[in-house]
Amino acid sequence: MNAEPRYNDLFYQRTTSHSEIMDIVQGKAISLNKVSSPIDWQELFGNTNPVEIEVGFGKGRFLLEAAKQYADVNFIGVERAQKYVELTRQRFLKYIRHYAVDKNSGVFENVRLVWTDANYFLSRYVPDNSVQAYHVYFPDPWPKARQQKRRIFRNSEFLDAISSTLLLDSGRLYAVTDYAEYFDEIQERIAQQTTLKPVSHNINEYQHITTNFENKYQLEGRKIYRAVYGKM
Ligand SMILES: C[S@@+](CC[C@H](N)C(=O)[O-])C[C@H]1O[C@@H](n2cnc3c(N)ncnc32)[C@H](O)[C@@H]1O
Repeated sequence: MNAEPRYNDLFYQRTTSHSEIMDIVQGKAISLNKVSSPIDWQELFGNTNPVEIEVGFGKGRFLLEAAKQYADVNFIGVERAQKYVELTRQRFLKYIRHYAVDKNSGVFENVRLVWTDANYFLSRYVPDNSVQAYHVYFPDPWPKARQQKRRIFRNSEFLDAISSTLLLDSGRLYAVTDYAEYFDEIQERIAQQTTLKPVSHNINEYQHITTNFENKYQLEGRKIYRAVYGKM
C-alpha cells in the first residue's frame, strides 16, 4: 500500500491554532487550547449520556437530525473547514428560530461543534474507551494518485485513535462512501488493525439519516458502500 501522510506537530500547529469547541444553543465558543485534555465528557455535557463523534460533518445535515432524534446521546461534530462549521452553526440556529425552540428545553444541548482537524482532536482530546460511535460519512476520496496520501483512513494515527477511544464491545465505527476503490482501501486498512472487526453492514441504526453528500449521490443513482466495525 502507498505511503501514509506525514502529520507532525508543526502541521497541527498550523492547522489547529484557531481550534474551537462550540455550544450552539448557549452561543459559546472556547479555544481548544483552553480545554484540558482529555476532555471530561460528563463535565462538558453535564450528563453521563453516551458520546458519539461525527468526523467531517460538512453541511451538518446528519448531525442536526441525529441530535434531534437521539436526544439521549451526546454528539460531537468535528470539521476542519471553517466555512462548513459556520454553515452548520447557522443550520442549527435556523432550526431553533424556525421551530421557536425554547433555549431552556434542552434541544441541541447534546451537540458540540469542534472546528479543528479530526486527527488532532481524536488523538489529543478524546479519552480512551469513551466513545459509543464514530460516524465517518463520505470522507474526501482524493482520487488523484498524488493526493491519495491525504485520505483520512490512510493515517494510522486516525485509526489508532478510533480504536483506542471506542468503547470495548459496544463501540461502533460507521463508514460510508460512494468511492469503491477507497472503500476497498478502508476495509484493507481496518483489517490490519487488531481491535476493529466488521459487524454486519445492516446494523446501522442511523442509516435512515442521510448526509448532504448521500442525498446528492442518491439522486445521481450512484452506488453507496457502507461498513460497520465494532471494537472487539
Ligand atoms: C466530502 S465531505 C462530506 C461531508 C459530509 N460528511 C457529507 O456526507 O455530506 C468531507 C468533509 O470532511 C471534512 N474533513 C476532511 N478531512 C478532515 C479532517 N482531517 N478533520 C476534520 N474534517 C475533515 C471536509 O472539510 C469536508 O467537509
